[in-house]
Amino acid sequence: MKGLILSGGKGTRLYPLTYTSAKQLIPVANKPVLFRVIEAIRDAEINDIGIVVGDTAEEIMKAVGKGNRWDVGITYIPQEQPLGLAHAVKISRDFLGDERFVMFLGDNVIQGGISPLIAQFAQSDWNSQIVLKQVAQPEQYGVAELDQDNRILRLIEKPKSPPSDLALVGIYMFDEHIHTAVNSIKPSWRGELEITDAIQWLVDQKYRVYPYVHSGWWIDTGRPGDMLEANSLVLEELTPLIEGYVDRDSEVDCRVTIQKGAEIINSVVRGPTIIGERTRIVNSYVGPFTSIYHDVTVEDSEIERSIILEHSVVRDIPARIQGSLIGRHVDLARSPIKPKAYKLTLGDHSQVGIL
Ligand code: TTP
Repeated sequence: MKGLILSGGKGTRLYPLTYTSAKQLIPVANKPVLFRVIEAIRDAEINDIGIVVGDTAEEIMKAVGKGNRWDVGITYIPQEQPLGLAHAVKISRDFLGDERFVMFLGDNVIQGGISPLIAQFAQSDWNSQIVLKQVAQPEQYGVAELDQDNRILRLIEKPKSPPSDLALVGIYMFDEHIHTAVNSIKPSWRGELEITDAIQWLVDQKYRVYPYVHSGWWIDTGRPGDMLEANSLVLEELTPLIEGYVDRDSEVDCRVTIQKGAEIINSVVRGPTIIGERTRIVNSYVGPFTSIYHDVTVEDSEIERSIILEHSVVRDIPARIQGSLIGRHVDLARSPIKPKAYKLTLGDHSQVGIL
């Protein structure tokens, strides 16, 4: 089997962070979401992986490289425009050939990996298997209706009256018939070639399309709140490790990971939390569910349930920072210069909550 990761797209819901960089490279518990996807596929013993890339191709190629780090081979497949998930399959035809493959959205995080579902599909004679998950508000998702034989009968995008509570997760398995499907469908009202239409085409042509109901958590990291939620869930599963330096005046509990070269000085750090390489936490409090990435400084401040990306500085902030997603090279500090005022340089679509 081969793997196909979709890592193009625009990432508009994560602006301004994704104006300049790929959303799939935003780290969750200090590891880019895309790396977690590659690892999930590699752990399912698939080592021939294609990555569909768009405007952020260069950044993704630089971060992932040829795949040697994971012992997999990576082929990049450029997509000129994000014309839909089925379009991504269409342009991957040469890479995929006639092999069975798993398609995984590069911004999704799933608990427990994908080995069990890959094993089930590999042993079956099914033409496709779609990963589903029971959700509380199916009307917000693509929803599957199953028949008495547990086959997929119909897929409906954001239905007003959902026929089930089974939503489509961003993981799909296909055999070569999907190529005929993606060439048989027309773009939807939003101008995209929809994977749900391609799957519906398979169903209508009487191909065998079965569900795999995933029981663990699954997060689509499309919006900032989802990113923080994924971060919390992954941090809960992290095995703590202290590789950095903690001074005698600091208090660090047993659920904290401190990466190489990090320093904790006169501070309190409560887990589950991760502090990145060469990051300095000085006279500060870092609370649970926080990921502070590499080369960051937090000084005389308090922060919890947040993500800070690399090379940022948070200094002398009078109130606790909570539920925040702070980008790269951000400087957040109290300024001694008069007049006493908030002085902000914020990217388009930034969101700031002031006390
Ligand atoms: P989406 O989250 O549907 O789209 P997006 O990334 O453009 O985000 P937004 O809605 O915030 O603008 O995409 C899911 C994943 O699939 C994501 O990793 C990007 C990828 N993708 C492609 O590679 N090609 C495409 O044509 C589309 C639509 C998405």
